[in-house]
Amino acid sequence: MVAMAFARCSQATAPGNTMLTPDAHSLDYFNITSGSHANLDCNVCHGGADSFAQYSCTSSGCHDQPSSDAAHVQITSSYTWSPTSCYQCHSLGTNLTFDHTNFFPIRSGDVHAAIACGSCHPDPTNHKAQDCLTCHPPNPTDGFHVNVGGYARTSSVCLSCHADSKYDPIAKHAFVIDSTSAGHFLTPCLSCHPNMRTDEPWGIDFTTFDCLGCHSQASLTVTGTGQVDHSTLASYTYADPSCIQSGCHLLGTLTGQAPKRWKAHVPPRALASLVDWLWMRPLHARR
Ligand code: HEC
Ligand code: HEC
Ligand code: HEC
Ligand code: HEC
Ligand code: HEC
Ligand code: HEC
Ligand code: HEC
Repeated sequence: MVAMAFARCSQATAPGNTMLTPDAHSLDYFNITSGSHANLDCNVCHGGADSFAQYSCTSSGCHDQPSSDAAHVQITSSYTWSPTSCYQCHSLGTNLTFDHTNFFPIRSGDVHAAIACGSCHPDPTNHKAQDCLTCHPPNPTDGFHVNVGGYARTSSVCLSCHADSKYDPIAKHAFVIDSTSAGHFLTPCLSCHPNMRTDEPWGIDFTTFDCLGCHSQASLTVTGTGQVDHSTLASYTYADPSCIQSGCHLLGTLTGQAPKRWKAHVPPRALASLVDWLWMRPLHARR
């Protein structure tokens, strides 16, 4: 009926009514033609205000604080109960799904799928607190980390290295930190990677690194036996990228030129069988 009335009116030649139609309202502002808010009286949202630019989601007995707060227990950081805050997130007037992927992957297929919220968040009113230790007891967890500098049994520390639940095998770390003879054996990750991520501030940003905090400029310009006065070297600058530029300390060693393992231009599988072959040869020869 309403639609027919509109259709007939719009054929009139006189200047039309510029009042927003419900369809235009749904398209441009908020859905009031279908879904939970269909056919509500204009005053339910705009009543008591001076202009239509003002509205309230919490008046007329709608969305009282207790039930609204209860619907948002998962959204501890950005939700507040106010007459207008709702529209920022629910601009379409529909329910939303909380996406945990931005925090920690727990979707089906992920290693931590189907784990009860409470296993990681023992306090349901504070999701910023996590427990990783109950499921990851000292045995075997400590054993995984014998070559990992900065390892500690604190959930927030676990998370700083495993923000996305991932780990890079330490043997793949191009810069040598897992050999007992390396200058940087057991150097904490944070010493070389001191920045935290901006997207997930609880995680270490492994894409940036710092060498200068430990290696002072003065220590690199010493002359004498076994010393290299770096100021005499072409293309040397006292800056982090300079340290690992090609031909220098790419691997954190003094002879850092040769690429290590997976960085080698040999397919890993071929490399592995070559290593196997070299090992096996003397055994075979002995027989
Ligand atoms: C369920 C709540 C709700 C109902 C019912 C509702 N509106 Fe709105 N309306 C809104 C919201 C939310 C906005 C967006 C306000 C903004 O952009 O700041 C809006 C925007 C508007 C605007 C534009 C205001 C501006 O910014 O210039 C007009 C005009 C308007 N509504 C008219 C109406 C009329 C007429 C009705 C009844 C047919 C109606 N509304 C019903 C919630 C509602
Ligand atoms: C920071 C964004 C945000 C704000 C602000 C926000 N919401 Fe939500 N809302 C969500 C998300 C996300 C969900 C889904 C929660 C879930 O899946 O646990 C949701 C769920 C809901 C639900 C559905 C609950 C259910 O179980 O069906 C309603 C109703 C709702 N919000 C209304 C409101 C009202 C009213 C306000 C303002 C007082 C508001 N929201 C403010 C993001 C927000
Ligand atoms: C395997 C562990 C794990 C499980 C299971 C888990 N979470 Fe989380 N959750 C985390 C981690 C890690 C973070 C991000 C760290 C932080 O926010 O400090 C997080 C963040 C959150 C946040 C954001 C906190 C904030 O405001 O910053 C909410 C809300 C949340 N989780 C709710 C849930 C809910 C609801 C469930 C169940 C559906 C769940 N989590 C299951 C580990 C988990
Ligand atoms: C409900 C038990 C449970 C909780 C709680 C839990 N985990 Fe796990 N986690 C597992 C299981 C099971 C595996 C797979 C077996 C394994 O690697 O130990 C796993 C694997 C991992 C892995 C290896 C991922 C991979 O790809 O192999 C990391 C890293 C990890 N968890 C970190 C965490 C962190 C950080 C937290 C806390 C935010 C946490 N876990 C909380 C059970 C849990
Ligand atoms: C300082 C960084 C750091 C911290 C802190 C840390 N890890 Fe790890 N984690 C690693 C690295 C690196 C590896 C890979 C070790 C390797 O290749 O030898 C790893 C491996 C793992 C694995 C996989 C082992 C496997 O081979 O399947 C799990 C599970 C794990 N960590 C869980 C945890 C938990 C739980 C905590 C907190 C108690 C934690 N980690 C603390 C860096 C860290
Ligand atoms: C002595 C310094 C040093 C320490 C200690 C160190 N790193 Fe690194 N790391 C580097 C350098 C340098 C690079 C960059 C290498 C390159 O670009 O070739 C790097 C790169 C990485 C990358 C690759 C980042 C990318 O761009 O994708 C990861 C992941 C990483 N480190 C993890 C770790 C973890 C985990 C630890 C602790 C177990 C750790 N690092 C400890 C120096 C260090
Ligand atoms: C936490 C302090 C620390 C950080 C950070 C650090 N180093 Fe070192 N570095 C050391 C120590 C300690 C040694 C061993 C003693 C020495 O040779 O001075 C060492 C040794 C070296 C050596 C000599 C290696 C050898 O086999 O003798 C080189 C080259 C080197 N570092 C380069 C770097 C580069 C490049 C970075 C940044 C990616 C870096 N270091 C970050 C402390 C650090």
